[in-house]
Amino acid sequence: MKNKLFEIKNTAINLIEEAATKDALEKIRVEFLGKKGRLTSVLRGMGNLSAEERPAVGKIANEVRQVLEEELKKAFDNINEKEKLEKLHKETLDVTIPGKKITLGSKHPLTVTLDEITKIFMNMGFKVTEGPEVETVYYNFDALNAPKNHPSRDITDTFYISDNVLLRTQTSPVQVRTLKSQAPPIKVIAPGRCFRCDTPDATHSPMFQQVEGLLVDKGITMSDLKGTLDVFAKHLFGPQVKTKFRPHYFPFTEPSAEVDVTCFKCGGSGCRVCKGSGWIEILGAGMVHPNVLKEGGVDTEVYSGFAFGMGVERIAMLKYEVDDIRLFYENDMRFIEQFR
Ligand code: PHE
Repeated sequence: MKNKLFEIKNTAINLIEEAATKDALEKIRVEFLGKKGRLTSVLRGMGNLSAEERPAVGKIANEVRQVLEEELKKAFDNINEKEKLEKLHKETLDVTIPGKKITLGSKHPLTVTLDEITKIFMNMGFKVTEGPEVETVYYNFDALNAPKNHPSRDITDTFYISDNVLLRTQTSPVQVRTLKSQAPPIKVIAPGRCFRCDTPDATHSPMFQQVEGLLVDKGITMSDLKGTLDVFAKHLFGPQVKTKFRPHYFPFTEPSAEVDVTCFKCGGSGCRVCKGSGWIEILGAGMVHPNVLKEGGVDTEVYSGFAFGMGVERIAMLKYEVDDIRLFYENDMRFIEQFR
Protein backbone atom coordinates (compact mmCIF):
# COMPACT_ATOMS: atom_id res chain seq x y z
CA MET A 1 0.00 0.00 0.00
CA LYS A 2 2.82 2.31 0.86
CA ASN A 3 4.39 1.56 -2.50
CA LYS A 4 1.15 2.34 -4.20
CA LEU A 5 1.07 5.72 -2.42
CA PHE A 6 4.64 6.53 -3.47
CA GLU A 7 3.87 5.51 -7.00
CA ILE A 8 0.80 7.82 -7.06
CA LYS A 9 2.95 10.62 -5.73
CA ASN A 10 5.65 10.21 -8.36
CA THR A 11 3.23 9.83 -11.25
CA ALA A 12 1.31 12.91 -10.15
CA ILE A 13 4.45 15.02 -9.72
CA ASN A 14 5.69 14.03 -13.18
CA LEU A 15 2.33 14.94 -14.69
CA ILE A 16 2.27 18.25 -12.84
CA GLU A 17 5.70 19.13 -14.13
CA GLU A 18 4.59 18.47 -17.69
CA ALA A 19 1.27 20.31 -17.44
CA ALA A 20 1.32 23.57 -19.40
CA THR A 21 -2.15 24.91 -18.75
CA LYS A 22 -4.44 25.51 -15.83
CA ASP A 23 -6.96 23.16 -17.38
CA ALA A 24 -4.39 20.37 -17.46
CA LEU A 25 -3.55 21.00 -13.80
CA GLU A 26 -7.19 20.94 -12.84
CA LYS A 27 -7.59 17.58 -14.59
CA ILE A 28 -4.64 16.20 -12.62
CA ARG A 29 -6.10 17.50 -9.38
CA VAL A 30 -9.42 15.78 -10.07
CA GLU A 31 -7.70 12.57 -11.17
CA PHE A 32 -5.59 12.25 -8.02
CA LEU A 33 -7.20 14.28 -5.24
CA GLY A 34 -10.86 14.40 -6.35
CA LYS A 35 -13.65 12.52 -4.57
CA LYS A 36 -13.26 9.62 -6.95
CA GLY A 37 -9.54 10.28 -7.36
CA ARG A 38 -6.73 7.77 -7.15
CA LEU A 39 -5.48 8.86 -3.71
CA THR A 40 -8.98 8.84 -2.29
CA SER A 41 -9.64 5.30 -3.50
CA VAL A 42 -6.42 4.11 -1.87
CA LEU A 43 -7.52 5.69 1.40
CA ARG A 44 -10.88 3.92 1.12
CA GLY A 45 -8.99 0.61 1.05
CA MET A 46 -7.39 1.39 4.42
CA GLY A 47 -10.22 -0.44 6.15
CA ASN A 48 -8.51 -3.70 5.19
CA LEU A 49 -5.30 -2.80 7.02
CA SER A 50 -4.41 -3.99 10.47
CA ALA A 51 -4.71 -1.58 13.38
CA GLU A 52 -0.90 -1.29 13.65
CA GLU A 53 -0.37 -0.49 9.99
CA ARG A 54 -3.16 2.03 9.66
CA PRO A 55 -1.62 5.09 11.39
CA ALA A 56 1.64 4.85 9.42
CA VAL A 57 -0.11 4.44 6.08
CA GLY A 58 -2.54 7.21 7.04
CA LYS A 59 0.37 9.49 7.78
CA ILE A 60 2.00 8.78 4.43
CA ALA A 61 -1.28 9.27 2.64
CA ASN A 62 -1.70 12.66 4.27
CA GLU A 63 1.84 13.61 3.38
CA VAL A 64 1.26 12.62 -0.26
CA ARG A 65 -1.92 14.71 -0.34
CA GLN A 66 -0.09 17.67 1.14
CA VAL A 67 2.83 17.38 -1.27
CA LEU A 68 0.54 17.08 -4.27
CA GLU A 69 -1.55 20.05 -3.15
CA GLU A 70 1.59 22.13 -2.75
CA GLU A 71 2.98 21.06 -6.11
CA LEU A 72 -0.33 21.83 -7.81
CA LYS A 73 -0.44 25.25 -6.23
CA LYS A 74 3.13 26.03 -7.25
CA ALA A 75 2.45 24.93 -10.82
CA PHE A 76 -0.75 27.01 -10.85
CA ASP A 77 1.10 30.07 -9.60
CA ASN A 78 3.82 29.54 -12.19
CA ILE A 79 1.34 29.45 -15.04
CA ASN A 80 -0.47 32.49 -13.67
CA GLU A 81 2.76 34.40 -13.49
CA LYS A 82 3.70 33.37 -17.01
CA GLU A 83 0.34 34.47 -18.37
CA LYS A 84 0.61 37.80 -16.60
CA LEU A 85 4.03 38.43 -18.12
CA GLU A 86 2.79 37.48 -21.56
CA LYS A 87 -0.16 39.83 -21.21
CA LEU A 88 2.05 42.66 -20.00
CA HIS A 89 4.35 42.07 -22.90
CA LYS A 90 1.51 42.12 -25.41
CA GLU A 91 0.10 45.34 -23.97
CA THR A 92 3.38 47.21 -23.84
CA LEU A 93 2.95 50.88 -24.61
CA ASP A 94 5.42 52.41 -27.00
CA VAL A 95 5.76 55.86 -25.51
CA THR A 96 7.84 56.99 -28.47
CA ILE A 97 4.93 56.72 -30.96
CA PRO A 98 3.71 60.24 -31.76
CA GLY A 99 0.33 61.01 -30.12
CA LYS A 100 -2.91 61.66 -31.98
CA LYS A 101 -3.13 65.38 -32.62
CA ILE A 102 -6.39 66.98 -31.50
CA THR A 103 -6.98 70.00 -33.67
CA LEU A 104 -8.96 72.74 -32.03
CA GLY A 105 -11.83 74.16 -34.09
CA SER A 106 -12.37 77.84 -34.63
CA LYS A 107 -15.38 80.06 -35.16
CA HIS A 108 -16.34 80.84 -38.74
CA PRO A 109 -15.48 84.45 -39.65
CA LEU A 110 -19.17 85.21 -40.23
CA THR A 111 -19.98 83.90 -36.75
CA VAL A 112 -17.18 86.02 -35.30
CA THR A 113 -18.58 89.08 -37.08
CA LEU A 114 -22.19 88.37 -36.12
CA ASP A 115 -21.15 87.79 -32.50
CA GLU A 116 -19.36 91.11 -32.49
CA ILE A 117 -22.31 93.01 -34.00
CA THR A 118 -24.74 91.32 -31.59
CA LYS A 119 -22.59 92.10 -28.58
CA ILE A 120 -22.40 95.81 -29.40
CA PHE A 121 -26.19 96.13 -29.69
CA MET A 122 -26.84 93.98 -26.64
CA ASN A 123 -24.60 96.31 -24.66
CA MET A 124 -26.91 99.13 -25.80
CA GLY A 125 -29.94 97.24 -24.48
CA PHE A 126 -31.21 95.56 -27.66
CA LYS A 127 -32.69 92.08 -27.37
CA VAL A 128 -32.11 89.41 -30.02
CA THR A 129 -35.12 88.05 -31.89
CA GLU A 130 -35.62 85.96 -35.01
CA GLY A 131 -38.04 85.37 -37.84
CA PRO A 132 -38.59 82.59 -40.40
CA GLU A 133 -36.42 82.25 -43.50
CA VAL A 134 -39.42 80.96 -45.44
CA GLU A 135 -41.67 84.00 -45.34
CA THR A 136 -44.93 85.20 -46.82
CA VAL A 137 -45.18 87.83 -49.53
CA TYR A 138 -47.25 89.78 -47.03
CA TYR A 139 -44.47 90.12 -44.43
CA ASN A 140 -41.60 90.42 -46.90
CA PHE A 141 -43.24 93.06 -49.12
CA ASP A 142 -46.86 94.12 -48.52
CA ALA A 143 -46.65 94.88 -44.82
CA LEU A 144 -43.38 96.69 -45.48
CA ASN A 145 -45.14 99.21 -47.70
CA ALA A 146 -43.48 97.89 -50.86
CA PRO A 147 -45.38 99.09 -53.93
CA LYS A 148 -46.91 96.31 -56.02
CA ASN A 149 -44.51 97.10 -58.85
CA HIS A 150 -41.35 97.22 -56.75
CA PRO A 151 -38.54 95.59 -58.76
CA SER A 152 -37.38 93.39 -55.86
CA ARG A 153 -40.73 91.54 -56.05
CA ASP A 154 -39.84 90.22 -59.48
CA ILE A 155 -39.31 86.48 -59.86
CA THR A 156 -35.91 87.27 -61.31
CA ASP A 157 -34.90 88.78 -57.95
CA THR A 158 -36.78 86.66 -55.43
CA PHE A 159 -37.05 82.91 -54.84
CA TYR A 160 -40.78 82.17 -54.74
CA ILE A 161 -42.07 78.93 -53.28
CA SER A 162 -45.65 79.71 -54.27
CA ASP A 163 -47.56 82.89 -55.16
CA ASN A 164 -47.71 83.87 -51.51
CA VAL A 165 -44.65 82.23 -50.02
CA LEU A 166 -41.00 83.04 -50.66
CA LEU A 167 -37.51 82.91 -49.20
CA ARG A 168 -37.18 86.24 -47.42
CA THR A 169 -35.05 88.73 -49.33
CA GLN A 170 -34.27 90.75 -46.19
CA THR A 171 -34.65 90.54 -42.42
CA SER A 172 -37.08 93.51 -42.44
CA PRO A 173 -40.18 91.23 -42.20
CA VAL A 174 -39.11 90.62 -38.61
CA GLN A 175 -39.92 94.29 -37.98
CA VAL A 176 -43.62 93.70 -38.69
CA ARG A 177 -43.68 90.35 -36.88
CA THR A 178 -42.20 92.04 -33.82
CA LEU A 179 -44.58 95.01 -33.96
CA LYS A 180 -47.54 92.61 -34.13
CA SER A 181 -46.34 90.39 -31.32
CA GLN A 182 -45.22 92.90 -28.72
CA ALA A 183 -46.15 96.39 -27.58
CA PRO A 184 -43.70 99.32 -27.48
CA PRO A 185 -41.18 100.09 -26.14
CA ILE A 186 -39.47 97.73 -28.61
CA LYS A 187 -35.71 97.46 -28.91
CA VAL A 188 -34.56 94.42 -30.88
CA ILE A 189 -32.06 93.18 -33.40
CA ALA A 190 -32.88 90.24 -35.69
CA PRO A 191 -30.02 88.39 -37.35
CA GLY A 192 -30.66 85.77 -40.00
CA ARG A 193 -30.25 84.38 -43.50
CA CYS A 194 -31.72 86.06 -46.56
CA PHE A 195 -31.99 84.91 -50.17
CA ARG A 196 -31.93 86.65 -53.52
CA CYS A 197 -31.70 85.34 -57.09
CA ASP A 198 -28.21 86.64 -57.62
CA THR A 199 -25.56 84.92 -59.68
CA PRO A 200 -22.61 84.36 -57.37
CA ASP A 201 -19.65 86.64 -57.95
CA ALA A 202 -17.07 88.36 -55.76
CA THR A 203 -19.70 90.53 -54.02
CA HIS A 204 -22.96 88.59 -54.53
CA SER A 205 -24.29 85.36 -53.08
CA PRO A 206 -27.85 83.97 -53.40
CA MET A 207 -27.71 83.32 -49.65
CA PHE A 208 -26.33 85.86 -47.21
CA GLN A 209 -26.97 87.17 -43.72
CA GLN A 210 -28.40 90.39 -42.39
CA VAL A 211 -28.90 91.94 -39.00
CA GLU A 212 -32.07 94.00 -38.68
CA GLY A 213 -32.55 96.58 -35.95
CA LEU A 214 -35.83 98.06 -34.69
CA LEU A 215 -36.50 100.56 -31.96
CA VAL A 216 -39.98 101.92 -31.26
CA ASP A 217 -40.83 104.16 -28.33
CA LYS A 218 -42.30 107.55 -27.48
CA GLY A 219 -40.44 110.51 -28.97
CA ILE A 220 -37.88 108.61 -31.05
CA THR A 221 -36.25 110.81 -33.67
CA MET A 222 -33.64 110.66 -36.41
CA SER A 223 -31.02 111.86 -33.93
CA ASP A 224 -31.56 108.69 -31.84
CA LEU A 225 -30.90 106.67 -34.99
CA LYS A 226 -27.78 108.68 -35.81
CA GLY A 227 -26.42 108.43 -32.28
CA THR A 228 -27.08 104.68 -32.05
CA LEU A 229 -25.42 103.86 -35.38
CA ASP A 230 -22.50 106.19 -34.69
CA VAL A 231 -21.79 104.41 -31.40
CA PHE A 232 -22.14 101.06 -33.19
CA ALA A 233 -19.68 102.04 -35.96
CA LYS A 234 -17.11 103.32 -33.47
CA HIS A 235 -17.28 100.08 -31.49
CA LEU A 236 -17.03 97.94 -34.60
CA PHE A 237 -14.38 99.77 -36.59
CA GLY A 238 -12.60 101.91 -34.00
CA PRO A 239 -13.24 105.16 -32.09
CA GLN A 240 -11.70 107.27 -34.84
CA VAL A 241 -14.34 106.52 -37.49
CA LYS A 242 -17.00 109.08 -38.40
CA THR A 243 -20.43 108.30 -39.83
CA LYS A 244 -22.34 109.99 -42.62
CA PHE A 245 -26.03 109.65 -43.48
CA ARG A 246 -26.76 109.84 -47.21
CA PRO A 247 -30.40 110.26 -48.31
CA HIS A 248 -31.78 107.05 -49.84
CA TYR A 249 -35.07 105.30 -50.48
CA PHE A 250 -36.57 102.28 -48.78
CA PRO A 251 -40.34 101.65 -48.94
CA PHE A 252 -40.54 100.89 -45.20
CA THR A 253 -38.64 103.90 -43.82
CA GLU A 254 -39.19 107.64 -44.24
CA PRO A 255 -36.85 109.42 -44.27
CA SER A 256 -34.37 106.76 -45.36
CA ALA A 257 -30.59 106.83 -45.46
CA GLU A 258 -27.57 104.83 -46.34
CA VAL A 259 -24.90 105.07 -43.70
CA ASP A 260 -21.23 105.42 -44.54
CA VAL A 261 -18.21 105.28 -42.22
CA THR A 262 -14.88 106.95 -42.83
CA CYS A 263 -12.48 104.35 -44.17
CA PHE A 264 -11.00 102.57 -41.17
CA LYS A 265 -8.01 101.61 -43.32
CA CYS A 266 -6.82 104.97 -44.66
CA GLY A 267 -8.71 107.24 -42.29
CA GLY A 268 -10.51 108.99 -45.14
CA SER A 269 -7.69 109.95 -47.51
CA GLY A 270 -8.64 107.27 -50.05
CA CYS A 271 -7.28 103.77 -50.56
CA ARG A 272 -8.02 100.38 -52.10
CA VAL A 273 -10.52 99.41 -49.38
CA CYS A 274 -12.69 102.53 -49.84
CA LYS A 275 -11.99 102.64 -53.59
CA GLY A 276 -10.44 106.08 -53.23
CA SER A 277 -13.51 107.81 -51.79
CA GLY A 278 -12.52 107.82 -48.12
CA TRP A 279 -16.00 106.50 -47.19
CA ILE A 280 -17.47 103.00 -46.96
CA GLU A 281 -21.20 102.20 -47.05
CA ILE A 282 -22.12 99.84 -44.22
CA LEU A 283 -25.91 99.75 -43.90
CA GLY A 284 -29.38 101.05 -44.70
CA ALA A 285 -31.57 102.78 -42.15
CA GLY A 286 -34.40 105.21 -41.54
CA MET A 287 -37.42 106.19 -39.48
CA VAL A 288 -40.02 103.43 -39.58
CA HIS A 289 -42.72 104.42 -42.10
CA PRO A 290 -46.08 105.22 -40.46
CA ASN A 291 -47.73 102.67 -42.78
CA VAL A 292 -45.50 99.94 -41.32
CA LEU A 293 -46.20 101.00 -37.74
CA LYS A 294 -49.94 101.01 -38.47
CA GLU A 295 -49.72 97.58 -40.11
CA GLY A 296 -48.06 96.38 -36.90
CA GLY A 297 -50.86 97.85 -34.79
CA VAL A 298 -48.85 100.73 -33.34
CA ASP A 299 -50.47 104.11 -32.63
CA THR A 300 -48.42 106.54 -34.74
CA GLU A 301 -49.74 109.51 -32.75
CA VAL A 302 -47.94 108.17 -29.70
CA TYR A 303 -44.99 106.19 -30.99
CA SER A 304 -42.25 106.54 -33.54
CA GLY A 305 -39.21 104.45 -34.27
CA PHE A 306 -36.17 103.75 -36.35
CA ALA A 307 -34.89 100.68 -38.18
CA PHE A 308 -31.70 99.63 -39.82
CA GLY A 309 -30.38 96.63 -41.70
CA MET A 310 -26.86 95.53 -42.51
CA GLY A 311 -25.22 92.69 -44.39
CA VAL A 312 -23.04 90.51 -42.17
CA GLU A 313 -20.86 89.32 -45.07
CA ARG A 314 -20.32 92.88 -46.22
CA ILE A 315 -19.21 93.98 -42.74
CA ALA A 316 -16.93 90.93 -42.40
CA MET A 317 -15.42 91.56 -45.83
CA LEU A 318 -14.68 95.17 -44.91
CA LYS A 319 -13.36 94.41 -41.48
CA TYR A 320 -11.11 91.52 -42.48
CA GLU A 321 -10.38 92.77 -46.00
CA VAL A 322 -11.81 89.69 -47.68
CA ASP A 323 -12.18 90.43 -51.39
CA ASP A 324 -14.49 87.57 -52.42
CA ILE A 325 -17.76 86.72 -50.61
CA ARG A 326 -17.60 83.12 -51.92
CA LEU A 327 -14.63 82.41 -49.64
CA PHE A 328 -17.06 82.40 -46.69
CA TYR A 329 -18.96 79.39 -48.03
CA GLU A 330 -16.21 77.25 -49.51
CA ASN A 331 -15.07 75.88 -46.14
CA ASP A 332 -11.44 75.95 -47.16
CA MET A 333 -9.56 75.42 -43.89
CA ARG A 334 -6.69 77.61 -45.07
CA PHE A 335 -9.14 80.51 -45.19
CA ILE A 336 -11.23 79.74 -42.11
CA GLU A 337 -8.24 79.08 -39.83
CA GLN A 338 -7.03 82.64 -40.29
CA PHE A 339 -9.81 83.91 -38.03
CA ARG A 340 -8.86 82.11 -34.83
N1 PHE B 1 -33.94 95.78 -45.72
C1 PHE B 1 -33.02 96.74 -46.31
C2 PHE B 1 -32.15 96.00 -47.35
O1 PHE B 1 -32.15 94.81 -47.39
C3 PHE B 1 -32.15 97.40 -45.28
C4 PHE B 1 -32.91 98.26 -44.32
C5 PHE B 1 -33.41 97.76 -43.14
C6 PHE B 1 -33.13 99.62 -44.60
C7 PHE B 1 -34.09 98.58 -42.24
C8 PHE B 1 -33.82 100.43 -43.74
C9 PHE B 1 -34.29 99.89 -42.57
O2 PHE B 1 -31.48 96.64 -48.12
